[in-house]
Amino acid sequence: MEHINSYMCRYKNYNFAVSLTTAEHLDSLQSFEVRDSDIYLVTYPKSGTIWTQQIIICICELDGVLNEYPNNLEQMPWLEYTEGRADYSLRPSPRFFATHLTPPFMPRGLMDKKAKIIYVTRNPKDNLVSYYHFSSAFAGLQTPKSFDCFFEDYLAGNIPGSSWFDHIREWHSKKDEYNILFLTYEDMILDLKSAVTKICSFLGKKLSEAAIDQVVEKSTFKTMKKDFKANYEFLPKEKLKGNFMRKGQIGDWKNIFSAAHSERVDKLLQEKLGDLSLKFIWE
Ligand code: A3P
Repeated sequence: MEHINSYMCRYKNYNFAVSLTTAEHLDSLQSFEVRDSDIYLVTYPKSGTIWTQQIIICICELDGVLNEYPNNLEQMPWLEYTEGRADYSLRPSPRFFATHLTPPFMPRGLMDKKAKIIYVTRNPKDNLVSYYHFSSAFAGLQTPKSFDCFFEDYLAGNIPGSSWFDHIREWHSKKDEYNILFLTYEDMILDLKSAVTKICSFLGKKLSEAAIDQVVEKSTFKTMKKDFKANYEFLPKEKLKGNFMRKGQIGDWKNIFSAAHSERVDKLLQEKLGDLSLKFIWE
């Protein structure tokens, strides 16, 4: 692990927040034993991870296949972090994992294309703003000196999770090597029921219309904000000063971006990902 500063370290060209993982653990993931029934949720930070986590967990709960854990973090732990980690080989199936990792770090067993991966993308302007606010709220991240400083770090990938642009490219370019469903935060906002139905069918779960509606209700911003198992307020106050559940909207970037900020992101998006023909919803 290369030490970058007191908040960040780097391994194999990818930035991690300090103290959360080790090179040894990351290397061990290559041979991590994947089960066909595993479900992996992959995101760049601040793309709707805990939201999708709640949807997946609610679907499996209503399908009657869930083992009880005190909260969503324990139900769906982070693959890459060593803190609070148990021996996952002892976990009963089905197992759920969340991760911000890129393909080169992922267990090779996923290439059998049996275990399922759900990848959620969020438009980079809202993603950046969400990450900016979260960096002040979360003790493990460096509090930005200013929005402009964070903006530059984000575009350069000098933050844990490295570059949003690289993350999206790496996962999209490997899509044929995995059993993967791509979703966007914006599609989930605009039509949560369709997103839940899509996830349900990808997971091979046959829920009734009423059960789907129940999942939707349990996954709205309003309900999740009050749901202690899902909203991450179970994290100790010294770790999380603010909320994971902040605004939950499309277009908050307009409240902080200047026209110049917006143009810079547009230009970079075109340069770095233009060939992928991805469509983003900005408001
Ligand atoms: P904002 O900071 O824009 O509000 P992650 O879980 O990857 O860290 O992403 C956090 C972002 O997802 C936050 O965005 C948070 O409010 C949003 N989010 C969490 N649950 C949500 C929900 N049920 N509906 C909409 N957005 C949600």
